[in-house]
Amino acid sequence: MKVPADEVILTDRCRLRYPDEADIPHVWSASLVPGFNDGLAWEHPKNAKELEARLKETREAWAKGSAYAWTAECPETGSFIGRIVIRREDKPGAWAIGYWIHPAHQGAGYATEIASAIVNFGFCRLGATAIRAAHATWNDASGKVLQRIGMRFVGSNPKGFQKRGKWVEEYEYEIHPTPR
Ligand SMILES: CC(C)(COP(=O)(O)OP(=O)(O)OC[C@H]1O[C@@H](n2cnc3c(N)ncnc32)[C@H](O)[C@@H]1OP(=O)(O)O)[C@@H](O)C(=O)NCCC(=O)NCCS
Repeated sequence: MKVPADEVILTDRCRLRYPDEADIPHVWSASLVPGFNDGLAWEHPKNAKELEARLKETREAWAKGSAYAWTAECPETGSFIGRIVIRREDKPGAWAIGYWIHPAHQGAGYATEIASAIVNFGFCRLGATAIRAAHATWNDASGKVLQRIGMRFVGSNPKGFQKRGKWVEEYEYEIHPTPR
């Protein structure tokens, strides 16, 4: 199943759409905030050119159907809110989500709102049979998001991702479709 690039997902307060060049200054300004990248596997970009290359990779992954990254914006004003991705994992039917909210919009429930919508998209449109997520053990804000959307803690992984050459331990979560 391929998802068309013009597909849009609407939530109570957000419009989720295919990422584009207009997002780059917002990704840049978010990653300039001290500590913003600490819980993310990606590092602060060196320049805007690097973000253009990442956008290209993001779109290639979408075209291949291996990962769908969505920009969350305000439907009325178009103002940038954050990013969420759902990636195919090796095991058939398994997908994983990752997300971030621009620091200007954190603490308002947006991560919970868009993560819930993307889990639903995963089950209904991608036919996912399991959706996983993980967060650095210190990242309580992310853990609360996963618990609020009904994900279940499944264990910890001492080698979750690397940050400045060191492994960061992660807590792992999972959710399955509810039987009808
Ligand atoms: C972790 C992160 C995604 C959380 O984003 P967020 O939008 O602030 O998270 P939420 O959507 O759950 O909102 C958080 C708070 O807003 C509150 N809130 C306010 N208005 C709300 C509303 N209308 N609906 C729901 N919750 C609301 C929630 O209750 C919650 O409060 P609490 O943490 O005291 O329980 C964000 O801090 C972030 O992007 N961090 C940097 C990158 C990162 O670490 N990403 C995750 C990697 S695993």
